[in-house]
Amino acid sequence: MRCASLLMAVLLALPWSAQAQFVRLNDAVKYRKAAFQVLSTHVQRAGAMAKGEVPFDKPAAETNAALIEMLSRQLATAFPPGSDMAPSKAKPEVWQEVAQFKTHSDQWQSAAAKLSGAARSGDANAFKTAFNALAQTCKSCHDSYRNR
Ligand code: HEC
Repeated sequence: MRCASLLMAVLLALPWSAQAQFVRLNDAVKYRKAAFQVLSTHVQRAGAMAKGEVPFDKPAAETNAALIEMLSRQLATAFPPGSDMAPSKAKPEVWQEVAQFKTHSDQWQSAAAKLSGAARSGDANAFKTAFNALAQTCKSCHDSYRNR
């Protein structure tokens, strides 16, 4: 137990503690794939409401947006250097263009936070606008950083 708390203290003190979340680098790849799939499910549900395929429902919008926000935040820390092994589809540029990748990631986080805000407001139009902005951040990052 003592040893574990000591390890915890050391990990927390690391400058980029996000890297310490994964014991092995391929755990980061597995995590990304799984989390992106779950994220995608909630994005589809939110999208159905944004597109008017299903009626806007405030509690459902809030739940989906909260999960999208949380998963996006976790996913942003799931690209530790060296985690580019198969079956990852991340392009090497993720780790070569660190600042640009972070910019994409920050825009994604802020779009996800805005979607949550719009869901809480209960305004279906605001939700639609925020959803379209979020979807654009997915696409623009994939265009540059994900292999087909
Ligand atoms: C900051 C860049 C970035 C943003 C923003 C981003 N993605 Fe991705 N996404 C990636 C990368 C890189 C991969 C490839 C990951 C891998 O295979 O290691 C990926 C993979 C995926 C996958 C495939 C997972 C699998 O099973 O292989 C899905 C689905 C996905 N993203 C959905 C989304 C959705 C939906 C959004 C927006 C809400 C989003 N992504 C936003 C970079 C991003």
